[in-house]
Amino acid sequence: MTARMKVAVLISGRGSNMEALLDATIQPDYPAEICGVLSNRETAKGLEIAARSGLPTAHIDHRAFASRAAFDEAVESRVLEWDADLIACAGFLRIFSEGFVERWSGRMINIHPSLLPLFKGLNTHEQALAAGVRMHGCSTHFVTTGVDEGPLILQAAVPVMHDDTPDSLAARVLSAEHRLYPQTLRLVASGRASLSDGKTVISEPVYDPSARLTPRIRP
Ligand code: GAR
Repeated sequence: MTARMKVAVLISGRGSNMEALLDATIQPDYPAEICGVLSNRETAKGLEIAARSGLPTAHIDHRAFASRAAFDEAVESRVLEWDADLIACAGFLRIFSEGFVERWSGRMINIHPSLLPLFKGLNTHEQALAAGVRMHGCSTHFVTTGVDEGPLILQAAVPVMHDDTPDSLAARVLSAEHRLYPQTLRLVASGRASLSDGKTVISEPVYDPSARLTPRIRP
């Protein structure tokens, strides 16, 4: 098997997507391995989980830096110490500087809890309920300078039920995220999904006729 890509995971909190990536990367045939987990928040639960799993971890407090670029440089030097080929943002709630994004163009991915370009930013489940959409979901994309923008890689849809609360919807989306992010990283790390002229190109895409189109209803 060819060398596995090394992935640094950036988090700010719970770290459940990081855990989903970790579970996937433990599989011997997976094309990537996690080389380190970095958080801007010391209390991020995900850091504890990563450390318990024996992964290198780092905490870099963004408040200790005079500028966004200076913080990003500190993040970058740690990620490079870990020899990372790719960066996966998993609930990392910081906006990157332009230089950092450009240096990692095509090598940095993110997951967002909505069907982008709908519902960027925070409180995406509240936004979806307020809009009254019947389908919601999650998206993975290459990171570009726009927040929650950047060429989409994969999306997963979930139905919105009439009695959903932000929490019930969030739980449904989160379990879709835990499937979507490992699939995305697999595609990117194996070179099957890449960024070309600002667009995502996926080689040998497979059409899945069972992909969800509308909420399932009883006959
Ligand atoms: C996830 O829902 C992720 O999609 C979201 O933060 C949550 C992190 O949860 N990311 C964004 O909103 C990025 N704009 P986790 O720490 O349990 O993975």
